Amino acid sequence: MYKISDLQKIVEQELSNQQFVTEPVGLYEPIEYVMAMGGKRIRPTLCLAGCYLFSDDISKAVKPSLSLEIFHNFTLLHDDIMDNADVRRNQPTVHKKWDENTGILSGDAMLIKAYQYATEIDGAYLKKVLDIFSQTAIEVCEGQQYDMEFENRDDVKVDDYLKMIRLKTAVLLAASLKTGAILGGANDKNAELLYQFGENIGLAFQLQDDFLDVYGNIETFGKAIGGDIVANKKTFLLLNALQLASGSLQNDLSTWINAVDFNNDEKIEAVRNIYNSLKVDELARNKMNYYFDKAIAALNEVEGRDSMKEELRQFAVKLIERSR
Ligand code: IPE
Ligand code: IPE
Ligand code: MG
Ligand code: MG
Ligand code: MG
Repeated sequence: MYKISDLQKIVEQELSNQQFVTEPVGLYEPIEYVMAMGGKRIRPTLCLAGCYLFSDDISKAVKPSLSLEIFHNFTLLHDDIMDNADVRRNQPTVHKKWDENTGILSGDAMLIKAYQYATEIDGAYLKKVLDIFSQTAIEVCEGQQYDMEFENRDDVKVDDYLKMIRLKTAVLLAASLKTGAILGGANDKNAELLYQFGENIGLAFQLQDDFLDVYGNIETFGKAIGGDIVANKKTFLLLNALQLASGSLQNDLSTWINAVDFNNDEKIEAVRNIYNSLKVDELARNKMNYYFDKAIAALNEVEGRDSMKEELRQFAVKLIERSR
């Protein structure tokens, strides 16, 4: 009987068996680099878990699960260029270690590789799985576009933010579970419930990521702290702060947001202090818990292997309790 930790090991093992490097190495070495630099492997693990809820044979979900991890890492290559991020998983990002053109083209090649892996499934499921994959991939692009546009907008609402994170992050977790479930033979109702579980966990997960971008520990987070503040990302924290601030706090916040020439550390520190004064961190925690509860409600309705449902519950708890 598999536990989530067994599925994670299978993912790691299968990934280490892949040969990503061939000629020209300038295209493929960055792929090997990012795929070997770790990460939590959430999406492939969820895909295998989705399959194992309904079937003893998870081998049929292995290649699509790797496809999802390759796709995710492709989005990271491009996201780090777009976000001007120098460090990921405690190591230099691809565009820093090489250059931006490398990040773009190796990323493009990864998207294509992701499709190649996704098609290595039983032909009976091919159209269904590829349709989910394509729909999800285009939604991630839409979410990324909103994320970037919001940096320069001052009329973004919390609902706009929630729509944006659903697209850029949540749908991929949802699709991972649903794809696994379909390959495991789940009926439409169960596949849809798992999608809802993944979507709500994904929303909580991105809220947590935004929270850790401000309050995280650089070692465990593996990324620079404060990048979202520097870039005026319209996170749940910032949007609530903008709504709640009055008097001098409101003036200070707006000065920092509109500042053109500033010291990054000073801005991060100042905006974090404003968040603390307004207690928007607590609002974010509450919102995370709200989506966590919705996720668990959907999972509870799934008719699948009980032991794996329990494992998924615990996995979800850990996902949104990533240490500071
Ligand atoms: C990072 O995803 C991008 C977000 C959606 C927040 P992960 O936090 O899953 O990244 P890795 O793969 O574990 O590094
Ligand atoms: C993640 O958003 C979205 C995608 C990578 C598609 P972030 O920009 O917050 O992710 P990190 O924090 O760089 O991992
Ligand atoms: Mg981003
Ligand atoms: Mg980023
Ligand atoms: Mg982030």
